[in-house]
Amino acid sequence: MCGIVGYVGRRDCTDVLIDALSKLEYRGYDSAGIAVFENGSIKVAKSKGRLADLEKKMDEEERPLGNAGIGHTRWATHGEPSDVNSHPHSGERVTIVHNGIIENYKILKEFLVSQGRQFRSETDTEVVAQLLDYYYDGNPLDTIIKVMHELEGSFALGIVFADFCDTVYAVRCESPLIVGVGSDESFIASDVPAILKYTKDYYLLEHNEIAVLNNDGVKIFNLHKKEIEKELKTADWDMDAAEKGGYEHFMLKEIYEQPTAVRTTITPRISDGLPNLEECGITYDKLRNFENIYVVACGTAMHAGMVGKYIIEKLARIPVTVDIASEFRYRDPLVTDRDLVIIISQSGETADSLAAMRLAKNLGAQTLAIVNAKGSSIAREADMLIYTHAGPEIAVASTKAYMVQISVMYLLAFELALAAGKISEDECRRLTGLLQQTPEYISDLLEKKEAAQYIASSLITADSLLYIGRGLDYALSMEGSLKLKEISYIHSESYAAGELKHGTISLISDGMPVIAVATQTALLEKTISNIKEVKARGAKVVMVCRDSYEFENDIADYKFGLPDIDDIIMPMIAVVPLQLIAYYTSVLKGNDVDKPRNLAKSVTVE
Ligand code: M6R
Repeated sequence: MCGIVGYVGRRDCTDVLIDALSKLEYRGYDSAGIAVFENGSIKVAKSKGRLADLEKKMDEEERPLGNAGIGHTRWATHGEPSDVNSHPHSGERVTIVHNGIIENYKILKEFLVSQGRQFRSETDTEVVAQLLDYYYDGNPLDTIIKVMHELEGSFALGIVFADFCDTVYAVRCESPLIVGVGSDESFIASDVPAILKYTKDYYLLEHNEIAVLNNDGVKIFNLHKKEIEKELKTADWDMDAAEKGGYEHFMLKEIYEQPTAVRTTITPRISDGLPNLEECGITYDKLRNFENIYVVACGTAMHAGMVGKYIIEKLARIPVTVDIASEFRYRDPLVTDRDLVIIISQSGETADSLAAMRLAKNLGAQTLAIVNAKGSSIAREADMLIYTHAGPEIAVASTKAYMVQISVMYLLAFELALAAGKISEDECRRLTGLLQQTPEYISDLLEKKEAAQYIASSLITADSLLYIGRGLDYALSMEGSLKLKEISYIHSESYAAGELKHGTISLISDGMPVIAVATQTALLEKTISNIKEVKARGAKVVMVCRDSYEFENDIADYKFGLPDIDDIIMPMIAVVPLQLIAYYTSVLKGNDVDKPRNLAKSVTVE
């Protein structure tokens, strides 16, 4: 999604804005631009494409030179990616950058057109710039407040007024925005990594707050124009978190960070060998009373919910429904005050997941958020909160976030099962012990990258492939398939292995790759029958299964071997080869692994 940055200080503003925007590239974008105060007037440079295209354009034309300004990376929603639709957008005396959606922009545009205003772009953003300009009476704060009362939607804005040189205004209406505070300089940004190089101290703007940054410092106001005292937060990430640290891509770095991420996430939540989530507001007493559990999330986070469903139902015997957030919020769900709704989100800002959580709260359910980004909207609004401690995830394709999400689902499942009296303390200790061993197994598997590279090299010419599995392996297949398609652009689907012959098997043609995940002992023979069915029809089968499993070569063409661990904990390690296969396929295809086409890291629009 779009990224906003802003700067006021003594440094070369253009350099700071471009550098800060580069730290937000992971969010996904298709154009970029900046507006800088130069000799008392606002100079704008913008371009379709990557930051490098913007830099090239500025080198060819003129690089804005000044000490204050705003910048933006755009992920197109209203109007195609183009120079003219890129931000910043300007009225006569106001220039803005914008993240989010203005829902009532059409009506506002009609009004402005009726007042003789002319528009250059197709964006909803230009409507805000023109509206600010229309109401501007020499007082920026009054004008911003007036306009905020007219806008509908969720958005964040960075604003500069030509009359107020070296002053940057920032507005948060739902969409996240922080204000960084350095010595004699200040920043605005959509996310912390943008400012880490300059400062770790920041204010988190709340809904309907306005920040004013100038050479006197930072002031924050509410919509009643009352100045607000806010707590200055300190980011606990270091600079390395936002750098590749010698890895070729963030995705690879994040895959390798998984053992540490799991340890950091689970260790503080285990005491005396048993899960202990009290610091997250979750007690055994609370967990005893739920009739149904819903897990609501999007994409990879939803797949983590699928793993959670299998293990909670198996261990705690409580019915679990997994919902795609964008479906849940519009399907009039049968949620009541006797239910628990778990929202899983890496960013904590996914628009559909946030809306689904609000709906669940309105229906009276208790909400529990499993979130990675500290202080994010979902984290702040949930009744109960378990932070995953993966550190910042920069690559669009989620890996370590998924891993820690499922590690938390395990802890929760163990605690639910114990609370429901479905397992003994001894059994719970055994299961928790298994979970604690997984970081070592993951590290061992990461040594087997050549095997993943070999498999990847056999996939790059495929037009389409299937991932199949049963039970927990089916849940994993979903994640493997999503990972591959989002970064390799090869079409793939995941199927419950037993479902193939009800239609999908007709797709199998000679040489079509099928990745069969077969880690569940009780289902192994069943899955093998399904593998034989596809093999007999010409499929080229890669099997992800225990190393110890010996098979004839009429079953699979290649095996990625896993260690012999308990079935229930297998997803924690079996996802690693699926991640590596997707990663190396993308690399071999020469794709932009960390920033796949059309995708954004944090999806803050519906
Ligand atoms: O930030 P969230 O976890 O809420 O994001 C959910 C999905 O957008 C995300 O998992 C997406 O599917 C990833 N690109 C998958 O790799």
